[in-house]
Amino acid sequence: MKFPYNEKVLEHFRNPRNVGSIENPDGKSTEGSPACGDMVSVYIRVDDETKKLKDIKFESYGCASNIATGSIITELAKGKTLEEAKKIDWKEASDALGGLPKIKTHCSVLAVDGLRAAIQNYEEKHGLIKEKIPTTKEIVLKRLKHVMNPLAGLDLVRTNLVSNIEVESGTVKVEVGLPEEHQFANNIREEIVEKLESLWDVEKVVVKFVT
Ligand code: FES
Repeated sequence: MKFPYNEKVLEHFRNPRNVGSIENPDGKSTEGSPACGDMVSVYIRVDDETKKLKDIKFESYGCASNIATGSIITELAKGKTLEEAKKIDWKEASDALGGLPKIKTHCSVLAVDGLRAAIQNYEEKHGLIKEKIPTTKEIVLKRLKHVMNPLAGLDLVRTNLVSNIEVESGTVKVEVGLPEEHQFANNIREEIVEKLESLWDVEKVVVKFVT
C-alpha cells in the first residue's frame, strides 16, 4: 500500500517525540478539530524567569498527520520563549516535515492550536494576558466548544448538551444536559472547570448536571 506521506512524516508518526503528559503542568490544553472530531492535548513546563519552554509533551487522538505535527512542533518549541513558540504556525510545521498533503492541513492546524492554547493557559494562570476582556456568556460558550462530549466525539455545544450559562460577579454556572451519575459526568465537569477557571476574572465555576 502506498502512503500519501513522505518518509519524514512517517518517521515522526512511527517514532513521535515528546509523547505523553506532564504531571502538574504549568500550562495545558485540549483542542478538538471541528473537521474530523479528533483531539490533541498539549502540556508545558515553563521557566518562570526566562519564560522559556523547559518541557513540552503531547497526546494525540488524531491521525498520522496530527501525530507527526505534534511531534515536530514540540521539537520546534522546546527551549524557545513563549513569544517565539507562539509564532510557530502550521506552515512552519509542514515545512519542517517536508510537506503534508493539502487535505491534511486541519490536522497540523489542530496541533498548532493545541500549542498556542497551552501557552495561553499558562499566560492566563499567571496574569500575563494583556487584553483583559470581561467574561461574557459568549466567551464561555466559545470555550465550551473545546470541551468534548465523549459520547459523540464532538464538542458539548454542537451536541446540544449545554442547557444554560450564567455569568455573575466572578462566578460562572454551566448546566449540562446529562444525569449527575453519568459515566462521563466527572470528566466533563473537570474539563469545563479547567477551560473556564483560568479566565482572569473568573473566581468560581459551578457545573450542574440536569436532565
Ligand atoms: Fe483528524 Fe487528522 S483527520 S486530526
